[in-house]
Amino acid sequence: MTTTHDHDPFAAVPNGARHAALAELARQGPLHRLVLPTTVPAWVITGYAEARAALADPRLVKGGPDNAPYVAELEPETSAGLNHHMLTADPPTHTRLRKLVSTAFTRRQVERLAPGIETLCTSLLDDVAERLAATGEADLMESLAHPLPLTVICDLLGIPEEAREDVRTWMRPLLAGGIFGFDTYAAAARKMLAFTRDLVAEKRHTPADDLLSALVQARDGEDRLSEDELTSMVQLLFIAGHDTTVSLIANGALALLSDPAWTASLREDPGQWPGALEELLRFDSPVQVAMPLTAAADVEIAGRTVPAGDVVIVSLLAANRDPARFAGPALLDLARDDGGHLAFGHGIHHCLGAPLARLEGRITLRALVERFPGLRLATSPESLEREPALLFNKLTSLPVRSS
Ligand code: HEM
Repeated sequence: MTTTHDHDPFAAVPNGARHAALAELARQGPLHRLVLPTTVPAWVITGYAEARAALADPRLVKGGPDNAPYVAELEPETSAGLNHHMLTADPPTHTRLRKLVSTAFTRRQVERLAPGIETLCTSLLDDVAERLAATGEADLMESLAHPLPLTVICDLLGIPEEAREDVRTWMRPLLAGGIFGFDTYAAAARKMLAFTRDLVAEKRHTPADDLLSALVQARDGEDRLSEDELTSMVQLLFIAGHDTTVSLIANGALALLSDPAWTASLREDPGQWPGALEELLRFDSPVQVAMPLTAAADVEIAGRTVPAGDVVIVSLLAANRDPARFAGPALLDLARDDGGHLAFGHGIHHCLGAPLARLEGRITLRALVERFPGLRLATSPESLEREPALLFNKLTSLPVRSS
């Protein structure tokens, strides 16, 4: 059965409300007609099987850089410098971009980062310990979940330390998918692009041992990334590599701290971590939806025809809690072995940074659980809040105390 709704679950702020709204929708069927916070009407998929099929369906396309926010209003050179990346692209452009970037962003390069991430994590947890000792409370969002992935992605790309807070400020409206309004978006877009152009020029002139220098030099035969593709790639990696992992760490910590039996079990048998991390990704996924798809032809979904030209949104959050796929989906079960969650997407756009995200998540959550056995939430889970956003499933704060 499918339903027509005039409200959306994306902007729900109280912790738990988003999952509740999506579960209510999903009870009515796997496909829904909603109006998004951006006022765009869209088909929203909540069923796991339908979501997986849609993400692998070549008739549902990202549609190219012209589908990015405010493209019609923004001057073309700014839009081009931010939006020519693989997450807006379809084959053959997507295939070409992903291949060029994959030559620079290898598993070996990611694994080289592990010792640095461990050192960074230890020093951030030292700060958490100091705050707990001084005031009895710490905000894990501010002290751990935010700074760790920010430092990792900036180190990886070669963004200098003094620019990091600026970049974080500019990225907020760029990430919010229209929620901040055009003027704020455009001002941030121009600043981010000017900064990135300078950075690319610097890496071209003086290559360093970082990913951006490797991307500037990346070649596939005669092919290479254009200037717009390089600056767009920096913006994509920053978006894709920061707030996503912030939410893996924060949502993961929230789930674990809400269930001391699981944290005790993980301390006793750390061999459970790989499976546990996958369950945390499923249980409270960091990314709410895949980037919007457009039907390039009429497509049949859940017995209905989605007409060519319509927008389709795949709710990763809802698909990962589909009871037809995961038994007791609202329960955290770190021993669950049915795999196959969609937190990293599926199909040709499956997350390129998944190995890095898993590395950051495993190192950080394991260190947290092992170093602070008495750590507890300082407030009830119901009183926590989520940021209103189309894309990310992000907490505003995560206060903790030691018991
Ligand atoms: C827990 C953390 C992360 C999650 C949950 C996540 C999730 C996702 C999802 C759902 C997609 C597909 C979106 C779509 O189909 O529209 C995606 C794509 C992507 N992710 Fe991640 N991501 C994470 C971390 C990272 C990191 C750390 C990086 C890199 C530094 C990264 C780089 C990318 C890139 C480049 C793409 C585009 C791939 C393509 O279009 O072919 N991600 N990610």
